[in-house]
Amino acid sequence: MLALVQERESMREAGHFVVELNSLSKYYDEVPAVANVSLGVRRGELLCLLGPSGCGKTTTLRMIAGFVEPTSGTVSINGSDMTHQPPYRRDTGMVFQSYALFPHMTVAENIAFGLENLKWPREKRETRVEEMLKLVELPHLTQRFPSQLSGGQQQRIALARALAMRPAVLLLDEPFSNLDALLRVRMREELRQVVRSVNVTTLFVTHDQEEALTMSDRIVVMNAGHVEQVGTPGDIYEAPLTPFVAKFIGWCSLLKGTVGPDGAFTSSAGLRLGGNWSVGPSTAVIRPEQIKLAADSAAGPCHQARVLQAHYYGGATRLLLDLNGEQLTMQERFPFGCHPKPGDVVNVRINMHEIRVIQADERP
Ligand SMILES: Nc1ncnc2c1ncn2[C@@H]1O[C@H](COP(=O)(O)OP(=O)(O)OP(=O)(O)O)[C@@H](O)[C@H]1O
Ligand SMILES: [Mg+2]
Repeated sequence: MLALVQERESMREAGHFVVELNSLSKYYDEVPAVANVSLGVRRGELLCLLGPSGCGKTTTLRMIAGFVEPTSGTVSINGSDMTHQPPYRRDTGMVFQSYALFPHMTVAENIAFGLENLKWPREKRETRVEEMLKLVELPHLTQRFPSQLSGGQQQRIALARALAMRPAVLLLDEPFSNLDALLRVRMREELRQVVRSVNVTTLFVTHDQEEALTMSDRIVVMNAGHVEQVGTPGDIYEAPLTPFVAKFIGWCSLLKGTVGPDGAFTSSAGLRLGGNWSVGPSTAVIRPEQIKLAADSAAGPCHQARVLQAHYYGGATRLLLDLNGEQLTMQERFPFGCHPKPGDVVNVRINMHEIRVIQADERP
């Protein structure tokens, strides 16, 4: 904890945090939408706010942009307190979930809107619009209206409009939620490239864990208005601090139980997992890829499991297993025609050294 405070202090002094939230809260009729969120976003970082519907992602983003007044706490941008400043003073650009392009304006007029408000001369505006359209690879669409664009094109224009002001901070609220699955994947890559090329500090809201894992430098997992964990995609997936984070990121089976004096974990149904964990009440997090079919028992301890459900995903089959009274999910690629069915018995081995066991009192 002390190390974390020291890191924050030294980063603050070095001016690394472009956005800094201190004990930020928003209450609606005494109900917290966001509760006591503290966070520093580093220069040039792509940080993702991830969490289930209603956990406070949009409210946090809108407090940073200045569209929602915090009940308490502060928002600093580039070292200045912006808590009570209007949006246009904050040096932020925002892309809303619905894109919010002005329907009666052409693409060029949409992108130039903020620049016109700043009284930029026409020539300078046109140069910047051209530059932005080139950046999002839509240079031929200047005179179209939003209704004449596809969802993906509107998304890119909204991004171009937000970036035209060269903001210090780019705020994106679920910008891909209206796109089909294939376009989403392509847009993720494009967005990463665009924000990297202009090196803008970016906060990105999503409730899609795959989007968060593939795009972010760091992920902030939110739950019911508070921050549950902050870390790199690897930290969050491999070392979740709470059962909530484990469950929210990636598929996993959570087993409640206790670690005994010998360091082994025993689940409440009696499944024993040998290891060297810290003693006490705990939750074991087992990912599907940590369970493998065991060809023979000579190579180490294995378990007999009964298949409860089998779901074919093309590249792999996901099995729900009953293992000593506990239900666990595993994933494996089976040869064509050899897929297990419900009722089959399989031999499996659990990669104990990869399993994460979260102690009850370790939770923040
Ligand atoms: N203007 C408002 N008045 C009252 N309650 C609100 C208001 N805006 C948001 N809330 C409540 O605050 C909580 C957080 O809302 P928020 O929009 O930040 O969630 P979110 O994480 O963005 O969810 P989603 O993924 O569904 O967009 C919700 O319970 C919501 O109902
Ligand atoms: Mg939202």
